[in-house]
Order: sequence, then C-alpha cells, then structure tokens
Amino acid sequence: MAKIKTTWFCQNCGAQHARWQGQCTTCKEWNTLVEEVVQKEKKPSWDAASGDTLSRKRTPQPQLISEIDVTETPRLDTTNAEFNRVLGGGLVPGSVTLLGGEPGIGKSTLLLQVCLNLPYKTLYVSGEESAQQIKMRADRIKQNATNCYILTETKTQNIFRQITEMEPEVLIIDSIQTLQTEIIESTAGSVSQIRECTSELIKFAKETNTPVLLIGHITKDGNIAGPKILEHMVDSVLQFEGDRNHTYRILRALKNRFGSTHEIGIYEMLGHGLREVINPSEILISQRGNSLSGTAIAATMEGMRPLMIEVQALVSTAVYGTPQRSATGYNLKRLNMILAVLEKRAGFKLGQKDVFLNITGGITVDDPAIDLAVVAAILSSNFDIELSSQHCYSAEVGLGGEIRPVSRMEQRVNEAAKLGFEKVFIAPAKQKFKEVGTDVQAFSKIEDLVKYLFS
Ligand code: TYD
Ligand code: MG
Repeated sequence: MAKIKTTWFCQNCGAQHARWQGQCTTCKEWNTLVEEVVQKEKKPSWDAASGDTLSRKRTPQPQLISEIDVTETPRLDTTNAEFNRVLGGGLVPGSVTLLGGEPGIGKSTLLLQVCLNLPYKTLYVSGEESAQQIKMRADRIKQNATNCYILTETKTQNIFRQITEMEPEVLIIDSIQTLQTEIIESTAGSVSQIRECTSELIKFAKETNTPVLLIGHITKDGNIAGPKILEHMVDSVLQFEGDRNHTYRILRALKNRFGSTHEIGIYEMLGHGLREVINPSEILISQRGNSLSGTAIAATMEGMRPLMIEVQALVSTAVYGTPQRSATGYNLKRLNMILAVLEKRAGFKLGQKDVFLNITGGITVDDPAIDLAVVAAILSSNFDIELSSQHCYSAEVGLGGEIRPVSRMEQRVNEAAKLGFEKVFIAPAKQKFKEVGTDVQAFSKIEDLVKYLFS
C-alpha cells in the first residue's frame, strides 16, 4: 500500500498548505481550505497510458528571436462563424480552451453543435450524460455528422487509451469537473483532481498538437469552479452567458492567448439548437414603430461590435414608505446614481417614486454609453411622454449632470444610421458625423436634453 499523504488546498486560489488554518495566507480568503488526499507514489498518467511513442521529450534549445519560424500554424475552421470570431479566427492546433457558464445555459449544446459540424475527426467525451442523451440532443440539433465520436467516461487513463486508438483531431471534454485521474485519490471535482486532469490534458494537447475544448462549471458567484489556477493553465477562457429565461446567449473571451478578448459571439437558443445571430441589433429592438412611454434605445458596444439595445423604465408613485428600485441587466448602484443626479442637478423629485428598469433580451450591459438612454427612459416614463422610436442615445452621464463622450462614437453612429435611426443623441465631440446619413445631436448637460425632449 502506498503511503497516503493529505494536504490542505485553498478552494479559492489553489495554494497548498501543510495544515488547516482559518485564513489562506496566499489570497487572504477565510474558510477556504479543504483537505485533499494526495497519494505520494505517483501512478503513471498520460505518458504511460499512451505508450512511449508520444512522450519522448524534445529538450527545447534557446533560439535567436530573429530565427524563429513565424509561418503561422493554420487554424482549424469550426464552421461556426461566431465561435471562430471569439476564438480569434478558429481553433489553434494544440490549444486548450475552457468554456465556462452557468448550468443549463447551453455549454454542452454549443460544443456538441460545433463538434457535429466539424469536418475533422472529433471525440466528445461526456462524464455528465449518457450516450443516448447526447444522441437525443444531437437529433434535436439535426446535423448529420459523420466524424463525431461519443465516449462516456470519466477516468482520464481510459480516455487516453481510447484516444491513442482512434487518434481524434479535436477533443471535447464535458466537463472537467467530472474527470478523475488514478494518480490522485480524492473525489472528482476537487481542486487537486481538476488541476491534475487539466495538466494531463494540456500535456496531451501540446504533445500531439490536438486542440482540446473543456467545459467548466461556474460557482454561484460566477467564477469557474475549482482553483483560479485552472484559468491560468489553459490558453483561452470563454464564457457563455445570458439569462436562462431568455433566448439570447453571448459568448465572450475572458482570456485568449491567440486573439483579442474584445470579440463576442451572439447566439439564440431555439428548439433545434443554437442559431448564430449575425445582425444582433435588429433583433434586440422589439417593436420599432409603435413607441411607448418609458422606452429608449441605446447605441452600445459589446466588445468590438455595436449593439442597439432597448431600455425600458417604469416610474410610478411609491406604495410603501421606502420606494423600490429595481434594475434588470443594469447595475442597480448606477441606477441609484442616475436618479440622484436627476434629483440634484435637474430638479426631478424621484425620491417618492418606484423606479424599475429593464434591459430587454435578458442582456446585461456594462457599457456606460447606455446611461443617456436610461435617463431618457426614466424621464419619459415619469412624464408619460413617449420618445420617438427613430431616436437613439449614446453617452455616459456624470455626477455633475454632464453628458460625457464614450469610445468608438463613429461605429455607434454608423450602426444607428444603418438601422435607419433618424437621430442620435450624444455628448459634444470633436469628430464630425456629417456623411453618415443620420442626424447627430450633441448636448453637454442633462437639463438641455430634457428641455429639448420634453418641452
Ligand atoms: P445544455 O447544453 O445542457 O446546458 P449546459 O451544458 O450549459 O448545462 O443546455 C440545456 C438547455 O438548453 C436546456 O434547458 C434546454 C435548452 N435547449 C434548447 O432550448 N434547444 C435545444 O435544441 C437544446 C439542445 C437545448
Ligand atoms: Mg452540460
């Protein structure tokens, strides 16, 4: 019997400690140490499972930077335009990509769909669902794949044995938390298991030049479950997000060693899988034409893409002593700030009103350019005067009630013009937007905009 050793791992940062203590000395988090059983004597991992052929090590030699071959390795086209875009142009051979997201958001669906469409020999390893369940999902997605193999297995050693036999060109793991390696005896999903399984897979990817896609669970505060170290180990981290009750999903790169992290992919979850949304702005604006009080359209940016988003506000007399403030898809603190600015700088008494704010489509917006549309929607609901559905707004609002410019104004204005908006309200800018085909109106103070819109 090999001697069993236990160590304490911080669940937050992955730091190893010799004994239990209340606070992790590395990341200063409290109550995060968990005991893990680590067997001292290491059983072989990927090397032995695959025979000696692949593990013969090349020792890297120092190279002159000017002599390094830069002929770029061709990327594998995933035939999914949005997925390619987020990856930075396709899958890089030998890269390890981690896809995180809340349960039920569609991670398995996305990767299965990508996998079914791939023109390469693909192995989809699932530790979560049975082969029948996956087949049923594949039938819903309705793609007749000829290159896709399914394996339901959680032991990495067995997975590598299958891999050596079938030699897939792309490997997908659903999910990293269900994998288990024989080297470590702790349960699947523990920090040490996740770390060890990931490093085995990374080793496999680098040595065979096979791209590996991992699905990872996220915890309730939105981090990928397991140590933060997991995100450092892989080449790219993608996040699949959206509101489960809505159909839109956004794929975002949080880290990408082979491309920009500014790109996003937009999908719509339909009965037959995920549809790529090529022109998102047109869909997110629900009913152009019949204007309603309390609705304003914002020209925002999601990553590098302009996105027109509808903001809805409802202002009504408070029934309780403390008025309610609620925001969906928008930061509540920021809403409170905007209400305070309206009260202090523009003299609107909203202190006794309930204010509800909603971003349609279940999308969460961080872009400060949405502020002006929030202001317009709130005031429109407050006065019960509808705003023209041909107008849109794009500017940040400051604490002094000033309207501030935002980045990439030209792109936003162009998008508005493309979608046929007649007027865009912005902050005073040095740029000229003469030829864009839409009227651009700049205001420097909230009061001036209010006067213009509601009098
Ligand atoms: P799933 O990929 O299982 O989520 P995850 O792997 O992130 O946990 O997606 C599950 C949800 O997607 C489920 O609630 C049903 C929905 N869905 C559709 O709406 N249409 C489809 O074609 C498929 C396959 C799933
Ligand atoms: Mg799943």
